[in-house]
Amino acid sequence: MNPVLETIHQRKSVRAYEDKPVPEEVRDVILKSAMRAPTAGNMMLYSIIEVSDQEAKNKLVETCDNQPFIAEAPLVLIFLADYQRWYDYFMVSGVEQFCEEKGILMVKPEEGDLFLACCDALIAAQTAVIAAESMGVGSCFIGDILENYEIHREMFALPQYAVPICMVCFGYPSKEQKERERTERFGEEFIVFKNRYRNLGDDEFKEMYAGMHERIMAGSAEISDQPNVGLRMYKRKFSADYAVEMRRSVRAILDGWTA
Ligand SMILES: Cc1cc2nc3c(=O)[nH]c(=O)nc-3n(C[C@H](O)[C@H](O)[C@H](O)COP(=O)(O)O)c2cc1C
Repeated sequence: MNPVLETIHQRKSVRAYEDKPVPEEVRDVILKSAMRAPTAGNMMLYSIIEVSDQEAKNKLVETCDNQPFIAEAPLVLIFLADYQRWYDYFMVSGVEQFCEEKGILMVKPEEGDLFLACCDALIAAQTAVIAAESMGVGSCFIGDILENYEIHREMFALPQYAVPICMVCFGYPSKEQKERERTERFGEEFIVFKNRYRNLGDDEFKEMYAGMHERIMAGSAEISDQPNVGLRMYKRKFSADYAVEMRRSVRAILDGWTA
């Protein structure tokens, strides 16, 4: 494997860090790499907030489903889907007046624009992750930044068209994290389809989830009314309190964006 593939294949999420800062020059390379990511129309429809304030990190522990390692991470980046910068630029460029003179309605960012900006933000984030990994800096995505939108909007002074999509914690992995096994993935036959989508059948599900069943059931106490991975994951993830809050919060993001 070449070094790029090695980096991609060996990477695992890191949730415990050495007590060692990420040097300025390494941080700069991470950010510069993120900004080299492909971006729709070369518009860079994202912004990155570096959270260096310890109090803000402590607060993020709470607002992102009580994950204490967020406060310990030496580098924390929030990736925003951002149409605000372009919209503001349209305004200073006279687009409003132009539309008025031509008698046409000025278009505002809608859900489609948000989806595109989300793509940009996530691609930039993953590019940062791989750049960091290649320099020995571990990382972990925090999806829970989608929760508590109103609190995050206030904390980071977010305008209408700039919303958090993901957060990434970075830091040098602790010894235990370095030694930890990589997580498994589902087989390619269940994930990659040729030319058209295909729903999976019972037997395929059995095969697909066999490894996960083994790991989850072996790694936790038996719960009599949740004898399979589907029930466990539904209970522990899909219908958990944090997922309910995430749905509420994302609804608020959408309502704010389209207001
Ligand atoms: C969108 C997204 C959100 C995630 N959110 C969290 C999170 O809030 N907390 C966490 O500990 N890990 C989070 N992760 C990391 C996943 O749990 C991790 O990638 C997955 O278990 C596979 O493990 P690996 O990255 O070590 O291969 C997230 C990953 C992604 C892509």
